[in-house]
Amino acid sequence: MSGPAPLDAARVRALALDEGDELRSFRTQFSMPRGTGGEELTYLCGNSLGLAPLAARARVLEELDDWERLGVRGHEQGRRAWVGYAERLAPSLAQLAGALPGEVVAMNSLTVNLHLLLASFYRPTGTRFRILIEAGAFPSDRHLVTSQIRWHGLDPATALIELAPRPGAELLRMEDVEARIGAAGTSLALVLWPGVQYRTGQAFELAPIVRSAHRVGAMAGFDLAHAIGNVPLALHDSGADFAAWCSYKYLNCGPGAIAGAFVHQRHGDDARVPRLSGWWGSNPATRFRMGSEFELTPGAAGWQLSNPPILSAAPLFASLELFAAAGMERLRAKSLQLTAFLHDTLLAACAGEIEIITPADPRQRGCQLSVRVLGGNERARQIFTALERRGVIGDWREPDTIRLAPVPLYNSYLDAWRAAEQLAASLRDGRAPGR
Ligand SMILES: Cc1ncc(COP(=O)(O)O)c(C=O)c1O
Repeated sequence: MSGPAPLDAARVRALALDEGDELRSFRTQFSMPRGTGGEELTYLCGNSLGLAPLAARARVLEELDDWERLGVRGHEQGRRAWVGYAERLAPSLAQLAGALPGEVVAMNSLTVNLHLLLASFYRPTGTRFRILIEAGAFPSDRHLVTSQIRWHGLDPATALIELAPRPGAELLRMEDVEARIGAAGTSLALVLWPGVQYRTGQAFELAPIVRSAHRVGAMAGFDLAHAIGNVPLALHDSGADFAAWCSYKYLNCGPGAIAGAFVHQRHGDDARVPRLSGWWGSNPATRFRMGSEFELTPGAAGWQLSNPPILSAAPLFASLELFAAAGMERLRAKSLQLTAFLHDTLLAACAGEIEIITPADPRQRGCQLSVRVLGGNERARQIFTALERRGVIGDWREPDTIRLAPVPLYNSYLDAWRAAEQLAASLRDGRAPGR
């Protein structure tokens, strides 16, 4: 299909960039969704649900097979003995999180993990009881903190601080985050912040937030749902007290897959940190003596409650192998270029009809771009539906935003080009006659 000249030139550039992309073979390791006519879709929705690595099926089938062959003996004799499953995942997970292996654990789901971590790290007193989050946080995070506040007999009206961007702005400034923490001072118990904000795609440096929180004596924790596998992380060095993430977005582990958590070594090895416990957090060496006393496992593993859901954890092995082979540094290098390409192509192809909310500075974003369609909610919704009909899968956020995330592990520059071309075509079709 031939389009306007800038789109033609961008297509040539996309093909050249794909040709020179040293990571391009990784796309063949994933299953690309298809439309009803069997055609391959342009999938830019890894910010919501990452694609299935082909090896995920094999990993899950191996566990089913071990279960069928071995029954209960699979705990000890399975190819990846189930008793030590989480421990075996930790080293590669730690690589992605920028943590020590003992500081991470695969367990539960994201909101559950954040509740468990707040049970340990949100310990309000009469004078220090406030929690700071970003205004417009993901609803589950807001429910999480308001329910924690109420759980302690406090009132979110006084205990919850929600920091909004300056009037007329979409994005938060780091100096405003730091200033708000400073202003809350010793009343602040906890900062819970996103690594990458889900709606705007704004990425935050963790270390300055941690420093500001610690300066006033507060804890700093992070929701890394949109950050892990997307941007490089250095959780240990950032000094963060805790973090949690899900594995179904950029970690490509499937819907509802086992999530992850980080607890900094200084807390993980401290038996005095209070926690909600279960048998899987007690020392594996003595766990099966079935004693009545809880004997702590050092590190993040000590926050486990239950034996891990093997079938939902199996794809994580497949995924982490792909990340190890591609390398986070190479992925980030491609991601910067791929998202910049999508950014520039979208703005050139859809000039005057869209606005990109996500920061223009590549250091302040991951792979996702949040594209606002101008002209109001109804028109934006209609453009999103048209884009989907044209085979481009992004996702929709009320009232007028389409999120598009080119994922460096499996998306090509041509995918990014196609998304821009099809959005431009949807906008053309959606224009009222005579306008
Ligand atoms: C930023 C953020 N926080 C929390 C959640 C909730 O995750 P879960 O349902 O896995 O607990 C999500 C889910 O998409 C999210 O994007």
